[in-house]
Order: sequence, then C-alpha cells, then structure tokens
Amino acid sequence: MPRQFFVGGNFKMNPGSREQKQALVKVLNEANIDGSTEVVIAPPSLYLIPLKEIVRKDIQVAAQNCYVKNSGAFTGEISPVQLVDAGIPYVILGHSERRTLFHETSELVAQKTRAAIDASLKIILCVGETLQEREAGETAIVVQKQLQAAVDLLKESDYSQIVVAYEPVWAIGTGKVATSAQAQEAHADIRSYLAKAVSPAVAESTRIIYGGSVTAANCKELSTQPDVDGFLVGGASLKPEFVDIINAKK
Ligand code: G3P
Repeated sequence: MPRQFFVGGNFKMNPGSREQKQALVKVLNEANIDGSTEVVIAPPSLYLIPLKEIVRKDIQVAAQNCYVKNSGAFTGEISPVQLVDAGIPYVILGHSERRTLFHETSELVAQKTRAAIDASLKIILCVGETLQEREAGETAIVVQKQLQAAVDLLKESDYSQIVVAYEPVWAIGTGKVATSAQAQEAHADIRSYLAKAVSPAVAESTRIIYGGSVTAANCKELSTQPDVDGFLVGGASLKPEFVDIINAKK
C-alpha cells in the first residue's frame, strides 16, 4: 500500500497574537487542499483546543511535546492522556530544539514516545544530525542512535502510530535546505535501518518526512524523492505558502 503523503506545520512558539492565529486558520480553512495528504498543525499548547475548534476538520492538531507520566507533581508539563482527553491526536517528540535547548536525551524522547503510544497518541518522532556531525560523515550513525533508543522500547505494532521526521539541525530555520539527494540518502538510510532493526514491513509502511527550511519553492523537488513521504515545516507553516507545501504532490 502506498504511504500517505504527510505535511505537518510546526508553529513552534508562534504565532504571537490571536489575530495572527486567526489569519492563519482563515487561509487554511479557505484553501483548496489536496485531500490525499494528511495534514497536521502543531500550535503552542495554549492554543491546541481553541485551534482545534476553529480549524477545518480535515486538518488535525498536534502538541509539540508531552511528558512521560500521565499525572502528578510535574509543574509545567502536559501528559499524553491529557492530550488524548482534549481530543489531540498527535504529538511531536524529540525536536532538535527540545534536544538542544531543553537537554532532552534520546532515552527521554524514547520514554516519551512509549508513554504517548500507550495513551494512543500518534507521534512525529524527530531525528537529525548537526553540521559538525554531517561534516564528520556521521549522519547515518547519529540518526540511527537517536532512533535506536525508541526502537528498544517499541514493539512492531507500535509503528503504525509513528511518523519519523528527519530534520538535519543545520537546515532548521537557516534557509539552507537539504538537497533532494541529501534528503533521499538520509531517508533511505533510515528506512534500511528500520528494516534491519524492526522489520521490512515496518520499514515499508512507516512515513519518513523531511524538515528544515522547506518552502513552496523547494517542496516539489523534494517530494519527488522515493523515500520522502512529506514534510515537517517550521517558518513556512506560518505563511500562506504552507498551502502550496501541503499541495506539493498535486
Ligand atoms: O519542525 C520543523 C522545523 O524544525 C523546520 O523549521 O523553519 O526550517 O522550516 P524550518
């Protein structure tokens, strides 16, 4: 079965105002969107419920993070079951900003992934190398290690709830998009790793999406690569061009 194209918008800590948020939703709600693409938007947690209420029903909403526990004395955290209770189907885990700025290790990301799966959330699991690691020829090994931590805690049936996002750190928010050959190579490596570490069936069915300076101008070429199953978009997801990225395959 062909993998369904997936486009996520990671709003990060944006938009800054209620007006901006409403303008963005208006654009999406009025757009002609390719019905064969799965579309998810991830606003800051404060806006999850209000956004879910006003956005069209064929666009799903994702949290940008969650904790490993379901309740308790964890000030500032949101739990997987709370997200499910609020009707939020997806969560982004392991984004490089969380790994770098908030010191999340691959082990913690793996535990969060486990907890999110147990709560029946779907996960956009982010991995990716730094520029230094790429220049040292370590891309595949770094990404494998990040994935391995999660693979160790998952069973084969869990992968139907997982989308892997390959986001090279050097391409995030820099305007330096990976070439389609670089993206394809990294995605193919992830797929062959999944075939070995989990199963050929999981490797074949798991969506691997690319993130890092995706724009309306570069998305079409990237989308022609056989192992690029969609995008996780940051900056451009806050602009009308997000619609063109959703429609990259159209
Ligand atoms: O999660 C998406 C992301 O990190 C890429 O951001 O702004 O480079 O599209 P951007």
